[in-house]
Amino acid sequence: MEKMLVRFFLVLVACCFVRNGCGLNILGVFPAHGYSQYLIGSSLMTELARRGHNVTVIAPHRQNQAIQNYSEIYVEGLENFEADLNLFDLEKDYTIWKVYSLYQLGLTFTEHTLANKAVQQFLASNQSFDLVICEQFATEALYGFAWHFNAPLVMFSTIGPSEWISDKAGYPLPFSYVPHGLSKFTSHMNFIQRFENVYVHIFDIIYRNMFAYPTQNKVAQKYFSGIPHLDLIMYNVSLFLTNSHVAITEPVPVTPNVIEVGGLQISHRKLPKDLQDFLDGASHGSIYLSMGSNLRSRDLTNEQKMVFVNTFSKLKQRVLWKYEEDKLPSKQPSNVMIRKWLPQQDVLAHPNVKAFISHGGLLGSTEAAFSGVPIIGIPIFGDQKMNVAKLVTKGTTIHVPYNSLSEESLTNALNKILNNSKYNDAAKRLSSILNDQQTKPMDRAIYWIEYVHRHRGAPFLKPASLELMWYQYFAVDVLLATCTLLSIPIVIYCIISKCKYRIKDKLE
Ligand SMILES: *[C@@H]1O[C@H](CO)[C@@H](O)[C@H](O)[C@H]1NC(C)=O
Ligand SMILES: *[C@@H]1O[C@H](CO)[C@@H](O)[C@H](O)[C@H]1NC(C)=O
Ligand SMILES: *[C@@H]1O[C@H](CO)[C@@H](O)[C@H](O)[C@H]1NC(C)=O
Ligand SMILES: *[C@@H]1O[C@H](CO)[C@@H](O)[C@H](O)[C@H]1NC(C)=O
Ligand SMILES: *[C@@H]1O[C@H](CO)[C@@H](O)[C@H](O)[C@H]1NC(C)=O
Repeated sequence: MEKMLVRFFLVLVACCFVRNGCGLNILGVFPAHGYSQYLIGSSLMTELARRGHNVTVIAPHRQNQAIQNYSEIYVEGLENFEADLNLFDLEKDYTIWKVYSLYQLGLTFTEHTLANKAVQQFLASNQSFDLVICEQFATEALYGFAWHFNAPLVMFSTIGPSEWISDKAGYPLPFSYVPHGLSKFTSHMNFIQRFENVYVHIFDIIYRNMFAYPTQNKVAQKYFSGIPHLDLIMYNVSLFLTNSHVAITEPVPVTPNVIEVGGLQISHRKLPKDLQDFLDGASHGSIYLSMGSNLRSRDLTNEQKMVFVNTFSKLKQRVLWKYEEDKLPSKQPSNVMIRKWLPQQDVLAHPNVKAFISHGGLLGSTEAAFSGVPIIGIPIFGDQKMNVAKLVTKGTTIHVPYNSLSEESLTNALNKILNNSKYNDAAKRLSSILNDQQTKPMDRAIYWIEYVHRHRGAPFLKPASLELMWYQYFAVDVLLATCTLLSIPIVIYCIISKCKYRIKDKLE
């Protein structure tokens, strides 16, 4: 016993002394105001703390209770961000406008985070970190934290592989079949869709490189004294973790420095008793409705709320509705339960939940897919339209466009999902694919984070494409050289033939 204790102690000491992937000091930076983005980032950081690391998280949200080895630097002031904006209005935006708005939003979060007093004090303190994890959200100046702490940088993307990491990871992104993340396309596009896709991509690349990145560089220079040009940091990321699985998103080319960890937040807990009883007692099954954490039911018009209420009141099924106000605009049907917040993944895992009415956010879509629940998608903004379009092609989802939301369209969709087993079958098949993985997404994420530290930033994962200029990457220089070489004999031939004619002329 004593020997064992001594051995255990020695291993512990050796482990922490060598800092070989255990007991690391890890900084997580999650600047975006969306609560679902924070949820998935903090689920990773919480698990890192639980497994023996010392984590510090910079974010505009906080945990409800203190967690051991988990400190927070709270970036206040984003609680009411966009509070006066009805996010449902964004449904009508053009893709190009969404691209532009994304960079503006990213810049707002970047400056807001760096200007924060607590963050500045933190920078001035003499803490040290072994690794920095940054969320990807058009907030490149924040990668300066990795430079400041001289630590390898891991980027965490709350969406799948996208244009916003392809340039930093160095993987190709063919416009012909990889849809832009803010479009509503899948990778199977017709000519018109490809036409739009190509130009949205080109606009994004030009805007990003000519305006967004230079601005981010200026912000970095302002807040991190002595920092080199941001390019040196931005194109030196060790690893990219993406919140995706190829069966939910789509197969696209990525390089070995990109690891898909979609569904890492899923870890089932017991439902609270009232919810458990409500769902257990749903003998005809139940329907779960949530428009995510950003879209608020108070932004729906009364008419739209009544569409849901009237449709639900005619159903045999019970309905669980994430609804942030105290009361529905009319009498609450007896088969409907409303709650301001619901443990979504546990609700979706209940066997009586037969359909999920959703805005198509990636978190909820992934959780439904893992649990094998078919979806009625009413996408509004961001990547939601693309997520829903992709899930429709997998057969698990029916798209109800927001502007045609009515009792009729909703009832039709519900009838199809509840009465036609093909949606349920497809959802069950998708679930069996997602649950058939060699390692759990969370284990994979943590393995690779520790791996990056063990191998000092794992620079060997980086493709050489990151060292090339665009004209080298697309072989424009080689083509130009080839053209030049090919033209030499032609020029010589022309000169000779001209001379010949001249000599001939002279002789005659
Ligand atoms: C985690 O917290 C415990 C208790 O405060 C402490 O003993 C331990 O050293 C901490 N671990 C790390 C890696 O900081
Ligand atoms: C853990 O992190 C906190 C906050 O960043 C820091 O104060 C503390 O010294 C760290 N603990 C260890 C053992 O490094
Ligand atoms: C950090 O270290 C520097 C140099 O060792 C020292 O001058 C400074 O006061 C320290 N700052 C804090 C907040 O401890
Ligand atoms: C690039 O990353 C590696 C590994 O983290 C690091 O050693 C190196 O200093 C970084 N280069 C720059 C210019 O920051
Ligand atoms: C499904 O079909 C049955 C019988 O055809 C019908 O009564 C019911 O209203 C349909 N819809 C739902 C949502 O069950």
